[in-house]
Amino acid sequence: MDILVTGGAGYIGSHTCLELLQAGYKVTVLDNLSNSSEESLRRVQELTGKTLTFVKGDIRDRALLDKLFADNDFNSVVHFAGLKAVGESCQMPLEYYDNNVYGTVNLCMAMRDAGVKRLVFSSSATVYGDPASLPITEDFPLSATNPYGRSKLIIEDILRDLFASDEEWSIALLRYFNPVGAHESGMIGEDPNDIPNNLMPYITQVAIGKLQQLSVFGGDYPTKDGTGVRDYIHVVDLSIGHVRAIERLQGHKGVHPWNLGVGNGYSVLEMVEAFRSETEQQVPYKIVDRRSGDIAACYANPEKARTELNWQAERTLDDMVRDAWRWQSNNPNGYGHN
Ligand code: NAD
Ligand code: UFG
Repeated sequence: MDILVTGGAGYIGSHTCLELLQAGYKVTVLDNLSNSSEESLRRVQELTGKTLTFVKGDIRDRALLDKLFADNDFNSVVHFAGLKAVGESCQMPLEYYDNNVYGTVNLCMAMRDAGVKRLVFSSSATVYGDPASLPITEDFPLSATNPYGRSKLIIEDILRDLFASDEEWSIALLRYFNPVGAHESGMIGEDPNDIPNNLMPYITQVAIGKLQQLSVFGGDYPTKDGTGVRDYIHVVDLSIGHVRAIERLQGHKGVHPWNLGVGNGYSVLEMVEAFRSETEQQVPYKIVDRRSGDIAACYANPEKARTELNWQAERTLDDMVRDAWRWQSNNPNGYGHN
C-alpha cells in the first residue's frame, strides 16, 4: 500500500517512515528540507534495508502535489510538514499560518481532486490550552494560546468542516504529547537547527558540553516539586501510533481525535534526574523565571487510542533518556559533520 508522508525527513517523520517501511508500506516523502536533512532518510533506508522515494518540494506547491498524486496510487497521506516552534510563531505568525494552515488546505484540495480521502494529521496537546483538570481526554474543550497552537486548532476545525461536507473522508487527529528520545540504533534522532527550545535536546546538549547549563523555567508551579510536568513519550512509540492509525482508518470514516501520550506526568527535575541516573552524565541547571505561555502540568488519558487503535506506549522513561543520549553522543553535530 502506497503512503505519501509530508515532512517525512523531520524528527517524527523519519521515525514513522522507518516503522511504515518495516510494516511493508511503500513510502514517498515530500519535504522541503526547511528543518531537516535528506541524511535522515538515507539512514532510515540503511536501517530497514528498504528503499523509499524522496521528493524535495513544498506542500504549498499545488502543481507538484497534483503531479505526485497523478504519478502514484496513494492510499493515505501522513501529514507532518509544518513549522513547530511556539516562540518563533509569535514573531512570525504569517509564516506559520502560510506553512501550516494554507499548506494543509492546499494538500487537502489536491487529495480531494485525486480522490485520496485518508489523512493522518500531526496535531498536538497544545490544542487543549490550559486544561481545567488532568488527565486530558479527547472531549476536553479546545483553545489556543499562541499562533502555532492556533494553526493546529484551525486545521483541526478545517478537517472537521471537510468531513461534514463529504463523509467519505477518514481523518486521524493525532494529538501528540511530548515526543522525546530516538531510534535505539542511535542513527536517527532529533536534530534542532539552532539552540533547542525543547527540554530533552537541551539536556543532551548540556551533557555533551555544547551548552553550559539548563535553565529550568519556573520552580513555583503547583506541581510535585514546583517545576513543569509533561507527558513524555518515546518517539518510536509515537511513530507506531501512526501505523495503527492508518490501519484503523480503513473502514472507519469520520474525524477521529486520539491522544498519543503515555498517561504519566514527569517534572523537569525528574527528567534531569532520570537522565543523570541512566547515563551518568551531570546536567548543571538553574531555576529561573517561568517561560511565558507555559502551563503547569499536562498529561494524557490515552485510553481511547488503546481501545480503538490497539496501541499503547511501551517504552519507559529510562528508554527515552538512554536513546536520546545514544543519538546525541553518537552524532554530536546531528546529521551535520561529526
Ligand atoms: P520537524 O521540523 O523535525 O519536521 C517537520 C518537517 O516538515 C521538516 O522535515 C521540514 O523540513 C518539513 N516542512 C516544513 N514545512 C514544509 C513545507 N511547507 N513543505 C514541505 N515540508 C515542510 O518537526 P517534528 O518534531 O518532526 O514535528 C512533525 C509534526 O508534528 C509537525 O507538524 C509538528 O507541529 C507536530 N508536533 C510536534 C511536536 C514535537 O514536540 N516535536 C509536538 C506536537 C506536534
Ligand atoms: N523547559 C525548561 N527548560 C528548557 C526547556 C523546557 O525548564 O530549556 C520546561 C518547560 O517549561 C516545560 C517542560 O520543560 O515545563 C517541557 O518543555 P518543552 O519545551 O520541551 O515542551 P512543551 O510542553 O512546552 O511543548 C511541547 C512542544 C509543543 C507542543 C506541546 C504539546 O514543543 O510544540 O509540547 O504537545 F505543542
